[in-house]
Amino acid sequence: MKGTRDILPDEAELWRTVEQTIHEVMRNFNYREIRTPVLEQTELFARSIGELTDIVSKEMYTFADRSGESVTMRPEGTASTLRAFIQNNLGEQGSLTKLYYLGPMFRQERPQAGRLRQFHQFGAEAVGSMAPELDVEMMLVPLDICNRLGISKTSLLVNSVGCQRCRPAYKELLKAELIKIRTKLSPESRARVDQNPLRVLDSKDEGDRKLTASMPLMKDHLCDECSPHFSRVQDLLKALRIPFVIDGRLVRGLDYYTKTAFEITSRDLGSQDALAGGGRYDLLVEELGGKPAPGVGFAAGMERLMMVLEKQEIKTALGSALKIFLIGLDSESRSWAFETACALRARGISAETDYLERSLKAQLREANRQKAEYVLVVGGQELQSGAAKLKEMATGKESVVALSTFAHTFI
Ligand code: HAM
Repeated sequence: MKGTRDILPDEAELWRTVEQTIHEVMRNFNYREIRTPVLEQTELFARSIGELTDIVSKEMYTFADRSGESVTMRPEGTASTLRAFIQNNLGEQGSLTKLYYLGPMFRQERPQAGRLRQFHQFGAEAVGSMAPELDVEMMLVPLDICNRLGISKTSLLVNSVGCQRCRPAYKELLKAELIKIRTKLSPESRARVDQNPLRVLDSKDEGDRKLTASMPLMKDHLCDECSPHFSRVQDLLKALRIPFVIDGRLVRGLDYYTKTAFEITSRDLGSQDALAGGGRYDLLVEELGGKPAPGVGFAAGMERLMMVLEKQEIKTALGSALKIFLIGLDSESRSWAFETACALRARGISAETDYLERSLKAQLREANRQKAEYVLVVGGQELQSGAAKLKEMATGKESVVALSTFAHTFI
């Protein structure tokens, strides 16, 4: 199906390594995993992401189920995580709840490199604190994951999109400026001037960008709460020596943000260059029916991360998964090989044998193809003598092992 893809075994191995790194980094930062359903009530996304956003207005997989209820396959993880947070009372009064997730998301976008209809995100959400330190932590988590995987040459773009106190006045100011040039804007931006003027600023259209080059920016019109918050985020980044760029045009495609918004981009991604994006959403929990609680989070695209790994030729696949390949040369030794493979697997050792009655040569070729760490060849003679040669494939070293105790003494 258009915009979806299979993750074949070789690639799945790489995914597991990356996922392992994600789990480790999340544990280090003390985030706990949450798994929410793919299907949610449509209203959840309309209320959180915003009716007028591209995601909600044109990209969601929404349908009426058999009872007539409108359901949607989640286009992102924040809304679902907060719904679960509220429904399950995860946040005690005055506490901080740190959650992370990893899983498939669905958006009916026009497929292109780095843009899929079923894609995977990993992300984190922290609910219960206004501290700018947490905004910075949300940038550090994906940066640390990139670092550990060996990904270099990323850029961190940071902005503040203000809050309910300062944004409405700025929006009017911007709108008034945009109306003056409305007819020259691209059709997409023209349509946004009235309802969502901020999005005009992060239009990808070159003409729009030139026309809006000297427009007022939100970051220069922040209130006395948002302004020091933004300064503190920058000071913290500087203290940690994290390079960043202030991008006053960064708006993001979701409506729930207040104060900090950020993106991590990579030049190795082409036009869809965002590896990760996130920000603060201090009103969202309340908007979704929870007790008022500020929050901040990020999400990153797995497929885009994989694209960068490939582009930067980083090989992070797990080592050989197969410990031993047991080769049987006749029906009796094949049975022995199968039973011994089962005994080894029961001990937690990965083992494989032949199920296709292949020749010794073909079985050896298969063991090589499977990157088995060891090979044991057993025939009538070995069964009779009760001993066989165990070969370590990387070094070619051979040692004689006893068949009767092999399954219990190997490793
Ligand atoms: P987002 O910017 O929509 O933010 O998505 C985050 C990341 O998901 C993107 O930077 C990109 O890597 C990946 N992504 C998005 N759409 C696609 C697609 N169609 N194909 C492939 N990858 C894609 C959010 O989703 C927010 N929930 C982030 C957040 C969490 N903000 C606060 N907490």
